[in-house]
Amino acid sequence: MLDRVVRTVLLHGLDPWVLASTALLNIVLFILYRCYFHPLAKYPGPFLAKMSENYMIYFAMCERNTQARHELHQKFGPIVRVGPNELSFCDEASIKDIYGQSTNPCLKAPQFYRGFTMTGTDSVFSTRDRVLHARMRRLLANGLSQNGVLQFEAEIALIVQRYLDRIQKSTSQPVEFHDLTHSLFVDITSTLAFAQNFDTLSGKHNQGAADIDLWFQVCPLFGLFPLSKYFPFGLFRAAQNARPKIVEATQSWINQLRDRIQSGTAENGLLRSMIQARDTETNTVFSDAELSENAVIFVLAGTGTSATTLLYLIYEIGIRPEMQRHLEREIREAFPDRNVMPDYNTAMKLVSSF
Ligand code: HEM
Repeated sequence: MLDRVVRTVLLHGLDPWVLASTALLNIVLFILYRCYFHPLAKYPGPFLAKMSENYMIYFAMCERNTQARHELHQKFGPIVRVGPNELSFCDEASIKDIYGQSTNPCLKAPQFYRGFTMTGTDSVFSTRDRVLHARMRRLLANGLSQNGVLQFEAEIALIVQRYLDRIQKSTSQPVEFHDLTHSLFVDITSTLAFAQNFDTLSGKHNQGAADIDLWFQVCPLFGLFPLSKYFPFGLFRAAQNARPKIVEATQSWINQLRDRIQSGTAENGLLRSMIQARDTETNTVFSDAELSENAVIFVLAGTGTSATTLLYLIYEIGIRPEMQRHLEREIREAFPDRNVMPDYNTAMKLVSSF
């Protein structure tokens, strides 16, 4: 569009009428293209979203991204055009199309994922390079396999017990579940990913947890809107300040675990398995920056997702008293001793008869 305006200026000088009508024509052509001729033109969505990415960036900056998408889906249906080049899906079938294995996979959008790196090095989550992604998945395969994760069952059970203790000892009625459940998963993922229990369930402030939480609230915006990295105010500045602290802390936890591996006192966990993994295909190990990026990603990927799923489950069971009673009976029959934490293998054999 700018080209055409410059060409007009060169041909006609700075005649304001010619300039104004060229600009107007270009705006009209731009709108017509975005609404009727763009490859995503057939998908419904708000007019402003078709014009600019800033439509959703605005909601993200107001911390209303999820609600705004939900409202748009209610209004426009399961597929909504939420940006000039972006569609949002909320139907089950799309999950397979987007995330399923395929010879022609959906590649991640760089605008969004580039914001997630703290050091410039990619993690398994942020990379768009399929060869690099496959290498990282091989390096992570052991730690994330079912057998790998079951090695940490005892550690996880201890943290779950502390969560239950907090609920049972809570003096308030009703119990505040939201933050408590997030704390549960922050403590689990930090134990697995950093070999450091952030111990947020104790209710004490943990700087590492606060820094990571802050960074992840803002970093997608750094990808979508790179200029925001330089905003010297509010959450933007705070997140930029948190970044080097997270990098420094993770590096020190990696070094400490390496020392414990050397001295034979290291605990099991994802970080240990990542440090010790070697990819036989490329004969490489994780670099320190890759260890750091992936460890932090586990906390991000594992906390909100798991907490939201558990909270939703609790909510659904809460509004179905009959189902709750039935579930309680089934669980009590399988695990009669209240002092023994249910184990994964027995729990997986239960077949609900509800
Ligand atoms: C109910 C819980 C969970 C849900 C619903 C969930 C959902 C997802 C989804 C939708 C993705 C794809 C994201 C994207 O490509 O943008 C993803 C990726 C990922 N998740 Fe989870 N997740 C859960 C729990 C966890 C946990 C507990 C961990 C680790 C501790 C984890 C680690 C990862 C990693 C590393 C990726 C990137 C994988 C890759 O690109 O190959 N997730 N998860």
